[in-house]
Amino acid sequence: MKKILFAGAEAMPFAATGGLGDVLGSLPRALAESGEYDVRVVLPLYEAVGQEYRRRMKQEAVFSVQLAWRTQYCGVFSLQKDHVTYYFIDNEYYFRRPALYGFFDDGERYAYFSMAVVEMMEHIGFYPDILHSHDWQAALTVVYLNCLYRNRPGYGGIRTVFTIHNIEYQGQYDFSILGDVFSLGENEHTLVENSGCINLMKAAIECADRVTTVSPRYAEEIKTAEYAHGLEGVLNKNAGKLSGILNGIDYDYYNPAKDPSIEAHFSPRSMVGKAQDKTALQKELGLPERSDVPVLAVISRLASHKGLDLIAARIYELVAGNDLQFVVLGRGESRFEDFFRELEYRFPEKVRALITYDRALSKRIYAAADIFLMPSRTEPCGLSQMIASRYGAIPVVRETGGLFDSIKPFWMEGKEIHGNGFTFANYSADELKERTQAALALWNDPPLRRKFISRIMTTDFSWKTSALRYEALYAELLPAAEPCTV
Ligand code: GLC
Repeated sequence: MKKILFAGAEAMPFAATGGLGDVLGSLPRALAESGEYDVRVVLPLYEAVGQEYRRRMKQEAVFSVQLAWRTQYCGVFSLQKDHVTYYFIDNEYYFRRPALYGFFDDGERYAYFSMAVVEMMEHIGFYPDILHSHDWQAALTVVYLNCLYRNRPGYGGIRTVFTIHNIEYQGQYDFSILGDVFSLGENEHTLVENSGCINLMKAAIECADRVTTVSPRYAEEIKTAEYAHGLEGVLNKNAGKLSGILNGIDYDYYNPAKDPSIEAHFSPRSMVGKAQDKTALQKELGLPERSDVPVLAVISRLASHKGLDLIAARIYELVAGNDLQFVVLGRGESRFEDFFRELEYRFPEKVRALITYDRALSKRIYAAADIFLMPSRTEPCGLSQMIASRYGAIPVVRETGGLFDSIKPFWMEGKEIHGNGFTFANYSADELKERTQAALALWNDPPLRRKFISRIMTTDFSWKTSALRYEALYAELLPAAEPCTV
């Protein structure tokens, strides 16, 4: 069996703040289910990891990690779940904190984590065939493996894949801490340097055998200055090993037919539950309980690259000019938080601004929503449009990154329906408004609405196809099995 080790900063259900956690919580299981891989995942043992999991953990090893002049304790715990082995790197000084990220020493914390991951292999006697690392927090695993561990027994044959979930966050630091914090020296200067800074993502792109990102379109976009945040040169140079594989979503966790977070269950064949979920949400939020008005929803980090500027520019007109309800859930930039609170104040019968992060509530909104807005300026993959589709909400998206790859525009050819949502190309508030009006018009045509929503809900966003793409990528890197000579 081929051995794959995933390394990353978060994984559902243990600790997650965003899409990376969803992917590291579902792709490993999808790969393990094929029965062809021994799949393991390693992440930090954060404070957030619940007691229900800690109780089931087994201690695998205790050793010291040498990071420059520091000698740091490292414990490795393990837990089996859904045919996947999860390892947790224990060090309370680094990880027993009230949040996953956002600390002054994040660079040091993830340098420690990365060194611990590579060091761990010889202590637990597990050398993967493929080390598959994700985002800047795990970028140094690939770098340490290549620069510091290759000559040790067991490490020589490990092949590496590095996945970019979001190129905006690269791990950039001043060169003064190269030795002191990252335990690297002059020999690695050129490798880690980008625009005069240490750039951990750049170093991983250079070192890894293959680089992937989370949609084919984003793989093209990040070769351009508009999207690459300064890494376009490195990505063009390494274009031969770069590819895009669209994420899937966890079809068990996001399943309106059995989701314990929602009031009533439903499926494309039986949609009564969705109507009940809508009434339940209206009741919960104190909105008029009306089945005849469409509910528009936004569930997003309230950041401008998510297209919140476009929504802010036109939502007032959309709400004022149509009989609809609008619900937004998320936290982020205070200007958007305040904007939506103000909108609710103006339209108390139509708008709810839920300025919070709440997974269970988000599922109740997906289940109740009729139309889902996601006009991102950039979107490496995006999972919300897939979740919305699975819960029967019509997505209105901008054609960028994974939104372009997953949502195709609605059009009719005679009686035949094409597409699975409403899309627009330019980063334009007018285009967003116009496509939202088109989605509202479709919603107001019940027979067409029923057919279209059933089509949307049955679009396949499971991991089935994408896991096969990762398998093909791994196969390219691994030596073929011994030929049968009989
Ligand atoms: C990041 C990206 C998002 C993607 C997710 C999982 O959060 O911003 O687009 O879906 O990673 O890959």
